[in-house]
Amino acid sequence: MSRIPLVVGNWKMNGSLASSDAWLREFRELCRKDAVRCESGLCVPSAYLLAFTPKLDSEPVAGEFHVGAEDVSDRVGTGAFTGEVSGDMLRDLGAWWCIVGHSERRTLYGETDERVAEKVKAAYDAGLHPILCVGETLEERNAGRTREVVLRQIAAVLSVAGIEALEAGAVAYEPLWAIGTGVAAGTDQIEPVHAVIRGALEEADPVKGGAIRILYGGSVKPQNAAEIIALPDVDGALVGGASLDAGNFYRICAAV
Ligand code: G3P
Repeated sequence: MSRIPLVVGNWKMNGSLASSDAWLREFRELCRKDAVRCESGLCVPSAYLLAFTPKLDSEPVAGEFHVGAEDVSDRVGTGAFTGEVSGDMLRDLGAWWCIVGHSERRTLYGETDERVAEKVKAAYDAGLHPILCVGETLEERNAGRTREVVLRQIAAVLSVAGIEALEAGAVAYEPLWAIGTGVAAGTDQIEPVHAVIRGALEEADPVKGGAIRILYGGSVKPQNAAEIIALPDVDGALVGGASLDAGNFYRICAAV
């Protein structure tokens, strides 16, 4: 099945109003000169969504590019949930994508598989396109538990949010031991896990499961992007550090 490649940046807790404006201007100009063939996106702190979305409305980037959020509340509607940002609020700010269950949310903020599943459902129900992050720790990999971990993480979401929520967005395999290290997982390590994820999605629904894009994340750079994304069942990338620079991010998109 042919799936349109997707490259999404994740700024994490970085950026400013000034850097947002400069990034968008540079990326828009690069795409104007030579549009990328992939679909692309950039997920930023929700505080900076409005630094992007009105400008994108008035002057879109050539090609299919949308901004998004890095997290979402599992609560829906409104209410006494201090500090939470709902999916409806993110849509109100013009967000398209929404990263959910990033390993930093799971490890630093104690997000469980169940909470992540509720967040995927809340994001999808609000009209966002959830990007579900799954992946194992080095200890889990060394213990031979990688398959068990990613299947458990995906099953939790399928049981609560359904496969349609992932069909609207994507799944990102991010081995925790490759994030932020500058050294991506080896192609011989990436492909088997993507095959396991694809198998689980197709088992849930052969047609919809085959259409869902599975991204790789963990030290993707312009130098390694083409080799990684050329792998079977790798449909794109979720890019952290390299997305902070518009030129680097463009070169990753152009490598697809
Ligand atoms: O969500 C993507 C991120 O976890 C990967 O970070 O810096 O290794 O590309 P980085």
